[in-house]
Amino acid sequence: MTAPEAPSLATPHNASIGSYSRGPRADETPAWQALQAHFEQSGPGFDLREAFAVPEQGQQRFGQFSQQAPHLFADLSKNLLDSKTESLLFDLARQTGVEQHRQAMFAGEKVNPTEQRQVMHFLLRNPEQGGFEGAALSEGQQEVQTTLKAMLAYAESVRADNSLTDIVNIGIGGSDLGPQMAVLALQAQAMPGKRFHFVANIDGDELGAVLAQVKPQNTLFLIASKTFTTRETMTNANTAKAWFLREGAAQGLGEADIARHFAALTTNVPAAKVFGIRTCFGFKDWVGGRYSMWSAIGLPIAIAIGAQGFQELLAGAHAMDLHFATAPLQQNLPVRLALLDIWYRNFHGFSSRNVAPYQHALNRLPAYLQQLEMESNGKRVDTQGRPLPFSTSPVVWGEPGTNGQHAFFQMLHQGTDVIPVEFIAVKQPAYDLPGHHAQLTANALAQAQALMVGKSDAGGHRHFTGNRPSTFLMLEKLDPASLGALIALYEHRVFVSGSIWGLNSFDQWGVELGKVLAQDIEPRLASGDAAGLDASTAGLLALFRA
Ligand code: F6P
Repeated sequence: MTAPEAPSLATPHNASIGSYSRGPRADETPAWQALQAHFEQSGPGFDLREAFAVPEQGQQRFGQFSQQAPHLFADLSKNLLDSKTESLLFDLARQTGVEQHRQAMFAGEKVNPTEQRQVMHFLLRNPEQGGFEGAALSEGQQEVQTTLKAMLAYAESVRADNSLTDIVNIGIGGSDLGPQMAVLALQAQAMPGKRFHFVANIDGDELGAVLAQVKPQNTLFLIASKTFTTRETMTNANTAKAWFLREGAAQGLGEADIARHFAALTTNVPAAKVFGIRTCFGFKDWVGGRYSMWSAIGLPIAIAIGAQGFQELLAGAHAMDLHFATAPLQQNLPVRLALLDIWYRNFHGFSSRNVAPYQHALNRLPAYLQQLEMESNGKRVDTQGRPLPFSTSPVVWGEPGTNGQHAFFQMLHQGTDVIPVEFIAVKQPAYDLPGHHAQLTANALAQAQALMVGKSDAGGHRHFTGNRPSTFLMLEKLDPASLGALIALYEHRVFVSGSIWGLNSFDQWGVELGKVLAQDIEPRLASGDAAGLDASTAGLLALFRA
């Protein structure tokens, strides 16, 4: 089969919508059957220790199942697969039309069919736009460029304003997790003198605790909401505004000062204006909520690390976009990782994946990846609404190492379930305190090794079965470019597995029902009306009112 023409990200996207159709679903391909036969024959019996037993074979394996990608190195060799497995998985990717689907996304086709939307967050990180020299940009790109320029200029003005010491981001889901994760990750490069607070929860205790620490005259509230309708965010924003007007009155602050102390990051600029906000940075509906940290939603990141740093973040992600768009499948890291995910989920039946960043600044990465992967691929029907006869998104979870070692690693080593672990380590620490980094790195390497080699003990309790798989990602250092590349890697990996499963990775209908029911229950808390409720919900309601 010949490779399709590599998409060029440098080509302006006129967003023409062609007659694009998805390839067959995974289970409808010959490769799926071949993988099943291959798994039955050699999957359960595969032993990593044997694969590494002969040094030359181990060397070859390390070479074959590891690779350099933009800004990071990936070692996949400690995973339960051999050349035949990977070759069949590449067949699966080809037969399900991953390359065509990828090309369709980059060409601006509506690859989000249930919402009839394009998916083009990658456009936000095209350096042609970031470099502000786009001679031949289409209208959409011009808009992206103009917004980015305005947002970065605003970020620089906030950085230069010493009176603004506290930045409070009010947003939830993708309007919280991305900026929060990135600001924490890049805190070593963040501007001194600015404190960042992220308020997401409807729980007033979260906002209340932040408001107790800040002063209206020194605070900038960023109201981050793609839709500007999310109840949590709107409730928090209204409370923050009321607090600002109430507490600010003593400082001579009033309605007119909202312009300086509130900004909105949204696709719904009219709603933000109705709220009373004059400073708005918009983005388009082709940016999904969990793919939005590259858009105006990234403003807290830009304030923290500056315009230059934000451009580097975009450039790192763009480098990964180019890699994903152009590298052959065999050397395409998002594709290889996604195929491994499929192998584990659908053939080995592993139901979760642990993310273990051995870099404390990546504290919020597991939470970020939970939304990215589980909201994208936690689906039970394909794009045509047909129930899927196989499992989809695994549970993604984790904590930074070495903390996790003293919590759940016991289960990873000796529990009854096999849980693939993804180590993420950084070569150069941000703060080189004597002795720390060598210990941290040694622990990451040792845990991956221990999972694989195990330890025999006839007595039982000290027995480690070993043969437990892991992937190791290594970054030179945690800087904006490598973080951008890492996140884009995960985005594309989720795209590929969703593509193979034949589902829509870009909608999230599953969050709607709970929202609707909450609106029904809220007035019942005041009225006590339990009519039509099941006995359990009614019983709990009565206890809350007692
Ligand atoms: O949880 C559903 C969801 O729509 C997410 O996809 C999104 O990131 C979050 O809510 C917040 O949405 P918004 O940015 O529109 O407030």
